[in-house]
Amino acid sequence: MIFLPTQQNIKRAADIVRQGGVVAFPTETVYGLGADATNDTAVKLVFSIKGRPSTDPLIVHLSSISEISLVSDCDNDPKIRLRLAKLSSFWPGSLSVVLPKSKNIPDSVSAGLATVAVRIPNHQVALELIKLSERPIAAPSANPFGYVSPTSAQHVADSLGDKVSLILNGGDCSVGIESTVLSLCEEAPTILRPGAITKEMLEQKLQEPVILRSSKISTLEAAPAPGMLYQHYSPRTPIGWLSEHQGKPLPARVGVIQFTSSQDRSIESAATRLVLSEDGTLDTIATRLFAALRELDTQNLELILIDSCLEHGIGVAIMDRVRRAIG
Ligand code: TXA
Ligand code: MG
Repeated sequence: MIFLPTQQNIKRAADIVRQGGVVAFPTETVYGLGADATNDTAVKLVFSIKGRPSTDPLIVHLSSISEISLVSDCDNDPKIRLRLAKLSSFWPGSLSVVLPKSKNIPDSVSAGLATVAVRIPNHQVALELIKLSERPIAAPSANPFGYVSPTSAQHVADSLGDKVSLILNGGDCSVGIESTVLSLCEEAPTILRPGAITKEMLEQKLQEPVILRSSKISTLEAAPAPGMLYQHYSPRTPIGWLSEHQGKPLPARVGVIQFTSSQDRSIESAATRLVLSEDGTLDTIATRLFAALRELDTQNLELILIDSCLEHGIGVAIMDRVRRAIG
């Protein structure tokens, strides 16, 4: 059931978390499926609701930077502490950092790794939920494993509604793609998943080079370590690149996702055509991308064709998600 984010309903959700249950809640990136990160049984419930392999670790959500020391042993490491201090202005926001894990966090959260990913989401409802539950909240995106991430409460209800008793409605997500995951445990800070906080933004604050790990190096068959799985976030409808199908024979029912309104990016015979941004603004494309994939996936199309963009700024993250959707 979808609930308005009144103080009473957020309190109700917090009580469920405190009692070892699972709730769905909004963040600025995508909706999360949350449980008490210190409760092993509750965390395992999240994995089972999502159908997620236990080898894929969860992000722990906090309401303030001061709580990091409750879930991570980073205080013992001066190099990591310094990097954290330089990054602090990104929180609350869509940056998750991988840190040495504290014993307070069970191995189920981190898939057995000695590290834990943490972030402070930039959404009042999420922050209030974490504060009222007085727990760090472990949360993956609130979609069945392998499907497109949800950017509205209705998306969560559509694909997990029968498995989650309470979905807090915080409106449409403003960022629309998942957080940047940055490991601070490597020799050089390393981006494991690109997001709205870009390599350039991180380098500017850290004053050192940041490595962007290619999402293509690891496949399901050969993930070098848990958390490095090449994940698909795909609609059920077959999907391909718009540029590779233009001017070629196409099935009768094709849906097109254009990033700009430009005519040379369109297909005349398309049954549906969604334009994510009139002028190709990357932030707007990111915000609307997942909703567009979900919308076209309900239309009994034979093929979805999707646009591409330049890989600079948040364009890197957009292209990462489109590649994962195409597989
Ligand atoms: O924006 C987001 O990050 C959303 C919202 C709900 O906060 N959450 C999210 O969670 O996207 P999820 O579980 O769908 O993706 C978490 C990513 C996975 O790619 C996982 O492998 C990586 O973070 N991750 C988590 N813990 C890790 C760790 N200790 N080491 C390396 N990667 C880790
Ligand atoms: Mg996910």
